[in-house]
Amino acid sequence: MIDSIKNKNIVLVGFMASGKTLTSRELAKRLGIERVSTDETIETREGCSIADIFKTKGEPYFRQLERGIVREFASQTGLVIDCGGGVAANEENFDALKRTGISFYLNASPEAIHRRTKGRTDRPLLNVPDPLEKIRQLLAVRDPHYRKADHVVESNDDNIGKVVDDILHILKAH
Ligand code: S3P
Repeated sequence: MIDSIKNKNIVLVGFMASGKTLTSRELAKRLGIERVSTDETIETREGCSIADIFKTKGEPYFRQLERGIVREFASQTGLVIDCGGGVAANEENFDALKRTGISFYLNASPEAIHRRTKGRTDRPLLNVPDPLEKIRQLLAVRDPHYRKADHVVESNDDNIGKVVDDILHILKAH
């Protein structure tokens, strides 16, 4: 166990398809600590996919669930928290997570995000005629929020091992 993360969480934020899920899995494995995900918890509790929740109950309902789960996770310690892309764009969410966690922004370009999400339909916000333009617009609004993370880690190529190594390196120096 790395001393700096005792009694803390590790919080991964960033845009959709920035590598948070794979990175959080590998990081939790390497550190031998529990991993949780806001999206997966919502899907398990609601018994349906995020896309279906957006479709049947709407985005405000999803955001309300998300805020509740963020508070639950932020009140615990010893977790790697994989945050859905909208979590840290909400200031109250991010403030709560930062109180108990060391946060990392996985920073990926619009082009890398577009390459990874092309042809998929599981992210309702990107099911639009011009997804690359939508990614650019949303990222421009969200990037300043994500940058309030304690650390920024570059995540443009698909090398999750490198992202995990970078995070572990930072944690050891913390
Ligand atoms: C969202 C990101 C998604 C998911 C939902 C909304 C967003 O999570 O929470 O589709 O607002 O950016 P990922 O970042 O894991 O794709």
